[in-house]
Amino acid sequence: MVHRRLPRPAELRELLRPAPIQLNATDRRLTRAGSIADLRALAQRRAPRAVFDVSSVSTETTILGKPSAQPFALAPTGFTRMMHTEGECAVVKVAERAGIPYALSTMGTTTIEDMAAAGPDARKWFQLYLWRDRAPAKDLLDRAIASGYDTLLLTVDTPVAGARLRDVHNGLTVPPQLTLRTFLDGALHPRWWFDLLTTEPLAFASLSSSEGTVADLIDRVFDPAITLADLEWLRGAWPGSLVAKGVQSVTDAERVVAAGADAVLLSSHGGRQLDRAPVPLELVPSVREKLDGRAEVLVDTGITTGADVVAAIALGAHAALVGRAYLYGLMAGGERGVARAVRILSDEVARTMALLGVTSVDQLRPAHVSFRP
Ligand SMILES: Cc1cc2nc3c(=O)[nH]c(=O)nc-3n(C[C@H](O)[C@H](O)[C@H](O)COP(=O)(O)O)c2cc1C
Repeated sequence: MVHRRLPRPAELRELLRPAPIQLNATDRRLTRAGSIADLRALAQRRAPRAVFDVSSVSTETTILGKPSAQPFALAPTGFTRMMHTEGECAVVKVAERAGIPYALSTMGTTTIEDMAAAGPDARKWFQLYLWRDRAPAKDLLDRAIASGYDTLLLTVDTPVAGARLRDVHNGLTVPPQLTLRTFLDGALHPRWWFDLLTTEPLAFASLSSSEGTVADLIDRVFDPAITLADLEWLRGAWPGSLVAKGVQSVTDAERVVAAGADAVLLSSHGGRQLDRAPVPLELVPSVREKLDGRAEVLVDTGITTGADVVAAIALGAHAALVGRAYLYGLMAGGERGVARAVRILSDEVARTMALLGVTSVDQLRPAHVSFRP
C-alpha cells in the first residue's frame, strides 16, 4: 500500500522552474535535436525535396514504351547453359523479379517456350540472327510472338564470326567434346562436369545443327549478307518493337531507323566481333542527336558497373545492356549469382544517381559525364 500526501509549495516550485526561453526558432529546433538522426529529420522537413532527398532515388524508366525498374537490361548471350546448368531459366527468373528486360539468344540453350514458362511475367526479348534460309527465322518469330516476347533484336554485326581464337585453343564446342585437354580441365572443375552430365543435354535450342566451334556454326548457318531489305522484311513479320543490334556508326543508325527499326543498339558485341571497333559509349551523343527522337538509343559493351549505366544514360542512351556482368554471376552461383549481379548493379545505379544529386533517370544530363581527352 502506497502512502500518499499533498505536495508542499516548495517542492512544486522546484518542479515548475521554467526552462530557459529560446526566442530564436532555429536555436530551439537545434537544441531539441539530440542526435544526427534528429538533425536528418529536421533537414528533410526544411530543404526542398530535390536538394535533400536523394535517398529516394527512383531508377525506374521506360524502355521502348514499357516500364523497366532499372535503366539496364540483360543482353542475349548464346550457350548460356554451358556457363551454368540453370542457364536462361535462371536469368529470366531474376529479370522477372527485378522488373528488367532479358533477351533470349538465337544461340540460346533453352527454347523460347521453356524460357517463357520459367518467367511468365518477365519482359522477354528475342535476339535473331538471320538464316541463309528465311523459313526457320519466320518460325522462331512466330513462336516468340505466341510466347509473349515483346521486342526483337536483329544482330547486324555478325556477318561472319569474329576470330574466336580462344574457342579454338580451348576446344569450345556445343555440346562440349571430351578430348584429352577438356578431360584434364574437367578434372579441375568436377562440379561443372557433374552438372553437365546429370542434367538435360546441352544443345542449341533454336538450331537444328550444331557441329564444331561456335564460329563454324555462325559461318555455316547464318546469312553473311543481311541488308536493309531484311530489316524491312522483319518489320512486316514482327508486330513488337524492333531493334538493330550492333550498330557502330551514326550513318548506319540513320539507315536502320529509316528501314523501320524502333531502336538502335550501339554495340561491338562485347568486343567479340570486329577488333578496333569504335567504343559504343562514345557514339551515344552523336547518334542520339542525329536520330532526334525518331528512335531510341541503347548501348552495350564493357558496361560492368552501375556508374557505367548511369554514364550511358546521361550521355543520351535510353538504356544500357549488360552481358558478361550477369554471366559472371551465373557462373559463380546460378540464379542466386545472377540476382547478386543485378542487385550490385542496381545499388550502384542508385548510389551514383544519389551522389550526382539526381532523383530520377530523366534528370541525367551529358554534363554529368566527361570523357578523358
Ligand atoms: C558469352 C557471350 C555470348 C554472346 N552471344 C550472343 C548472341 O548469341 N547473340 C548476340 O547478338 N550477342 C551475343 N553476345 C553479345 C551480347 O549480347 C552483348 O552485346 C555483349 O555481351 C555486351 O558486352 P558486355 O559483355 O561487355 O556487357 C554474347 C556475349 C557473350 C559474352
